[in-house]
Amino acid sequence: MSNRVAVVPGSFDPPTQGHIDVIRRAAGLFDELHVLVVHNPDKDAMLPIAQRLELLQESITEAGIGGNVVVGSWSVGLLVDYAEEVGASVLVKGIRSQGDVTYETPMAVVNNHLSGIETVFLLADPANSVVSSSLVRQVADLGGDVSPYVPGPVARYLEKAGPTDF
Ligand code: PNS
Repeated sequence: MSNRVAVVPGSFDPPTQGHIDVIRRAAGLFDELHVLVVHNPDKDAMLPIAQRLELLQESITEAGIGGNVVVGSWSVGLLVDYAEEVGASVLVKGIRSQGDVTYETPMAVVNNHLSGIETVFLLADPANSVVSSSLVRQVADLGGDVSPYVPGPVARYLEKAGPTDF
């Protein structure tokens, strides 16, 4: 039987409850899941990549998500090159709204043209439908409480860092 490998790519700046929910569900669908922190040049970063990796790993461990999840980062070349390198045939993305469909569709189509990879969309839990990293960044930056929207390790990190550290 073939090993089904998938990649969940994203900025994860910072990881949110929505990300962790999608990672948990995807980990149950595939034999091996690579959660990949990718630098998005279209967005102003809050956290360095190394910090996002650490927070993602801690959040996945704290959530008790199975041992088939590997956390990594990728900054050189196409996402599909990474997928090929680890033997993944599927990308997994979470969808909260029509806006997400509009944003994700061209990437899914182009990635398929580039390498034949399929993108599987998981519908977000309605509880997470308004949760985004950009909203969390904004609230954290202005000194607000982001703990309802992020995993424990992220909430603790942001609280300790304080609004002026970014
Ligand atoms: O969390 P984000 O910022 O919405 O994630 C976007 C991301 C990182 C998944 C997207 O920017 C991406 O896929 N980047 C990889 C670069 C690439 O391969 N581009 C060409 C095909 S779309």
